[in-house]
Amino acid sequence: MKRIAVVIGASGGIGGACVEHCCADANYVSVIAVSRSNAALSFSENSKLTILEADSSKPSMANVVTEALMQAKRVASLDVDIIIATGLLHTETGSIKVQPEKRIEALDMQSALTVLETNTLMPMLWLQAFSPLFALKLDTRVLVLSARVGSIGDNRLGGWYSYRSSKAALNMMLKTASTEYARRYPNVKLIAYHPGTTDTGLSKPFQANVPEGKLFSQDYSAERLIDVMQSQAIDKTLSFVDWQGKSIEW
Ligand SMILES: NC(=O)c1ccc[n+]([C@@H]2O[C@H](COP(=O)([O-])OP(=O)(O)OC[C@H]3O[C@@H](n4cnc5c(N)ncnc54)[C@H](OP(=O)(O)O)[C@@H]3O)[C@@H](O)[C@H]2O)c1
Repeated sequence: MKRIAVVIGASGGIGGACVEHCCADANYVSVIAVSRSNAALSFSENSKLTILEADSSKPSMANVVTEALMQAKRVASLDVDIIIATGLLHTETGSIKVQPEKRIEALDMQSALTVLETNTLMPMLWLQAFSPLFALKLDTRVLVLSARVGSIGDNRLGGWYSYRSSKAALNMMLKTASTEYARRYPNVKLIAYHPGTTDTGLSKPFQANVPEGKLFSQDYSAERLIDVMQSQAIDKTLSFVDWQGKSIEW
C-alpha cells in the first residue's frame, strides 16, 4: 500500500536528507516535512511535499501535524511512516551552553536538563500528539533517532553523561510506549535507531577520531535509515537497531 512519510526535524542534517529521499521514493505519495522554523529549509521542488512549522513542546502546534495526517487519511486510505530526527548534543544559544561532558565535574544542571528535554521528552511529546492518528488503526512505523551511546551495555568509554543518559532514557520511554501500544495500538511499530556517525552539524566537532570510511554522508545515512525502516515488521515490539538493521544491546 502507498504511504505518507512524515519527517520531524526537517532542518537537521539527517532529517533534511530523509525528506529528499522520501520525496524521491515511489512508496510515498505524500511527504510532510516538519520543523520548528521553516525559515532555513530549502528542498528540491516536489509536488508531494508539504512543509509545516511545529514544535512538540507546544501541543496546539503538534496537533496541526496530526490533523494534517488525519486529513490525508480521510482523503485516501494511506499507511504512515514517521521519522523523528530531532536531537541535541551541543549548542551555545542565549544563556544555554551545552557541551558533552568529559568528566563528572563538567555536569551542569541546566545543560543536562536541556539535553534531556530535547532528546528524551520532545520525541515522546510527538508520540503523545499522534495518539488520535494511531487510534485510526493504520499500519504505522515510527522511527526515532536514538544513538548507540544510549546503550548501557555498550558503554565502555564513559563520558557524555547527559547525551548518553538522554538516549538511554529515550529508549526506556519508547519501550514503555511499545508495551502500552501492544494493547492500545497494535498497528504501530516503534523503532529506536542508530544512524552511524553522520556528517552533520551535530557530529562536526567530534569527527576527528572517526575511523576512515566510518563517517557517513547525510545522503547515505538517509538511504540506510529508510531502507531499515521499511524492512521492519509491525510486531508490537520496540526494536533498537543500527544502520545495518542489526540489533543493539540495551
Ligand atoms: N549525526 C550523527 O553522527 C548522529 C549519530 C547518532 C545519533 N544521531 C541522532 O540523530 C538525530 C539527528 O541528528 P543530526 O545529526 O541530523 O543533527 P542536526 O543536524 O543538528 O539536526 C537536529 C535537529 O533537531 C531539531 N531540534 C529540536 N529541538 C532542538 C534543540 N533544542 N536544539 C537543536 N536542535 C533541535 C532541529 O530541527 P528543527 O529545527 O527542524 O525542528 C535540528 O535541525 C539526533 O537525535 C542525534 O542524536 C546523530
